[in-house]
Amino acid sequence: MRVLIVKNYEELSVKAAEEVAELIKRKPICVLGLATGGTPVGMYKELARMHQSEGLDFSGVATFNLDEYYGLDGSHPHSYRCFMDANLVDGTNINRENMFIPNGKVAIKDVEAHCAEYEEKIKEAGGIDLQVLGIGGDGHIAFNEPGASLASRTRLVALNEQTIKDNARFFASAEEVPVYAISMGVGTILEARELLVLANGEKKADIVAKALEGPLSSSVVASVIQLHPKVTVILDEEAAGKLSRANFYKFAASMEGQVRLKLF
Ligand code: GLP
Repeated sequence: MRVLIVKNYEELSVKAAEEVAELIKRKPICVLGLATGGTPVGMYKELARMHQSEGLDFSGVATFNLDEYYGLDGSHPHSYRCFMDANLVDGTNINRENMFIPNGKVAIKDVEAHCAEYEEKIKEAGGIDLQVLGIGGDGHIAFNEPGASLASRTRLVALNEQTIKDNARFFASAEEVPVYAISMGVGTILEARELLVLANGEKKADIVAKALEGPLSSSVVASVIQLHPKVTVILDEEAAGKLSRANFYKFAASMEGQVRLKLF
């Protein structure tokens, strides 16, 4: 696992955007897996800046979002579709026709078919080249809550109490947070060719240490990244605060310049 520890959130955002930009430049027709939440906002802002001032071209980029709240229409201000519009799409030349986000308003009787179709669309697009992931306070990735099957596929899931509390900050109150979501599964996520995992702030330090250095377990779903062959984790000093191998990660990262290769 490639673990990059940077000073603060600004550096994390720039470094993460550079990783994404590198893929877009190397493979202009590519597929990105995108995450929501507070963590990637700075990275999206930097990507929009790169588009506006450096001409980073998103015209060949297709995107698949990890999840969507069930019950919210894409036009709802707290939907993840609106989040993506505001944080990335409006500031770049991503073609909206190539942007895929689960439909939070699909009827219950059609949910299974919708989820299967989402998986199919990922396949048709050629699979996800780079999947961006944040880590929830309870260790979730996408909305795969503690206890989620590590082989799960896109499906309807219930949200954990802690997630509802954590995400209440984006809503007027915790009561307004939907209690279900449509989420890519852990199995779906692991099929991406590369993972880019981001975490910042002291409040993520415990869960980051469990995910990176603890046992592989569905109790900490993010620990599943240990199974993937190409993972880059970018952390700020605070989120890296409880890692026991921080010095080794820093040493390995400092050696990358010499070999000009990513040391996974
Ligand atoms: C949400 C999303 C996740 C995200 C997580 C972390 O629940 N479904 O994909 O990674 O929150 O959020 P934050 O980045 O705000 O800590």
